[in-house]
Amino acid sequence: MKFFIDTANLDQIKEAQELGVLDGVTTNPSLMAKEGITGKDNILKHYVDICNIVDGDVSAEVVATDFDNMVKEGEELAELHEQIVVKVPMIKDGVKALKYFSDKGIRTNCTLVFSPGQALLAAKAGATYVSPFLGRLDDISTDGLNLISEIRLIYDNYGFETQILAASIRHTMHVIDCAKIGADVMTGPLSSIDGLLKHPLTDIGLAKFLEDYKKGNS
Ligand code: G3P
Repeated sequence: MKFFIDTANLDQIKEAQELGVLDGVTTNPSLMAKEGITGKDNILKHYVDICNIVDGDVSAEVVATDFDNMVKEGEELAELHEQIVVKVPMIKDGVKALKYFSDKGIRTNCTLVFSPGQALLAAKAGATYVSPFLGRLDDISTDGLNLISEIRLIYDNYGFETQILAASIRHTMHVIDCAKIGADVMTGPLSSIDGLLKHPLTDIGLAKFLEDYKKGNS
């Protein structure tokens, strides 16, 4: 399972990278705005800064919603750095753009996916990654994890190579549940990765080991 971090915050990206388990980064226009990154030049520079911190794929989202401008914007993003994956929304022109990019060998991440049918279309169009937003489904009392399971079943039935990137992960249990289902990738906040570390018995056990060591070596 690949671990991506879902942020445009360079400090958090560095912290996750230093842990040694980071496989990539996902961003979106909201995450960029949250970090105060505005204006095309600043946004493009920020993507390059992120690529220079991590070794893996960095999703950069187009903001155009028509085919011609999605293609123009996506090609510009892909030119920025070899690690860039062009993130395209699940709309009709987005599906056309996914197919266009796939035919040109440009890697893509189809975002804002909320149904198995949308995921099937993304795979048919040759998306590298599909991003079902499980947290946002949970927010509206719909089982987000069930969507990940349905997509896994469909992709396995036909051997689609599109990787399931479980997105809108909110906490550590989402990560563990997605791993059980067999999502290829998860993207979440740093806290969802850090949470995997924690168990009270580990802390209690370590304190006892150190205490006993001190007793025997003082
Ligand atoms: O990668 C998609 C993600 O950014 C959405 O997460 O927490 O805004 O639903 P969230």
